[in-house]
Amino acid sequence: MASPAPAEATAAAGPMVPRPFRVAVRRREAADTWTLALEPADGGPLPAFRPGQFNMLYALGVGEVPISISGDPAAGGPLEHTVRAVGPVSAAICRAEPGEQLGVRGPFGSSWPLEAAAGRHVVVVAGGIGLAPLRPALLGALAEREQLAGLVLLCGGRTPEQLLFRSQLERWGEDPRLELGVTVDSAESGWLGQVGVVTTLIGDAPFDPARAVAFVVGPEVMMRFAIEALLARGMAASDVYISIERNMKCAVTHCGRCQFGPTFACREGPVMSFAAIERFFRTREV
Ligand SMILES: Cc1cc2nc3c(=O)[nH]c(=O)nc-3n(C[C@H](O)[C@H](O)[C@H](O)COP(=O)(O)OP(=O)(O)OC[C@H]3O[C@@H](n4cnc5c(N)ncnc54)[C@H](O)[C@@H]3O)c2cc1C
Ligand code: FES
Repeated sequence: MASPAPAEATAAAGPMVPRPFRVAVRRREAADTWTLALEPADGGPLPAFRPGQFNMLYALGVGEVPISISGDPAAGGPLEHTVRAVGPVSAAICRAEPGEQLGVRGPFGSSWPLEAAAGRHVVVVAGGIGLAPLRPALLGALAEREQLAGLVLLCGGRTPEQLLFRSQLERWGEDPRLELGVTVDSAESGWLGQVGVVTTLIGDAPFDPARAVAFVVGPEVMMRFAIEALLARGMAASDVYISIERNMKCAVTHCGRCQFGPTFACREGPVMSFAAIERFFRTREV
């Protein structure tokens, strides 16, 4: 019998075996943050993914970490991931040059419920690197914009230089299909935008809370304040979705690392409604 082609062999090996991908493009987003476009090195097809899903990226000989897919699900090109270097593995991934290989397992997890957004306002609230997992949802919402009542992006960063996808943000700022609010925690003179935390933009944002769905990602403290502000506007907890970026190891419900109560963040999450997760989310370190 003929031996299987490499792509078939890795697929048959199961979800714990990384598939080799080659860095096609490496683009700097901020001082510590890079977007890598990855293409299969085994000749196989690119995996389909839904907005909000993540892959396990393996830096050879260093380690493996969960990273959300930040590209356009409809584009069909190389798989994009936007990574902030915070420790050994994420730093090794950020250092990977075009032509170098990384291992990829996935995609895993749940996705932003864009199908539930038809006829409603979509409110996207992003803090820092949180814009990366939200970008596929924004691109999907823009592609289906005529189905929506409105689309709002509220985006915050520590400084203007730390804002991700800056040229795309500028284009979105001029796009009449999207209401954009951008703010930074601090800025030198010359910054013409707002200064303050992103949650302060929620009170005046143009959406009808009775028929809105919100997608929120950022540091956990920012998500807590954003959720409070959205609920204070009158949104239901079941209409507010967050991405639970708890530590993960296996991504396939084997190790228990991401478990809180009966819920596995790698299976039911990372995207979950606040109503589904409220009891655990309000308790730190659960
Ligand atoms: C579902 C999911 C999606 C993610 N998507 C992205 C993404 O798109 N881009 C990106 O840059 N990062 C993302 N992360 C976070 C990323 O996985 C961590 O930054 C990475 O695991 C850190 O590993 P390290 O070895 O580089 O650093 P470590 O030495 O493990 O950690 C360095 C520092 O970062 C903190 N840290 C580690 N993991 C997390 C986490 N999950 N959340 C908050 N702080 C953490 C540690 O407490 C420590 O202070 C995601 C995490 C999850 C669970
Ligand atoms: S990461 Fe292992 S159980 Fe979820």
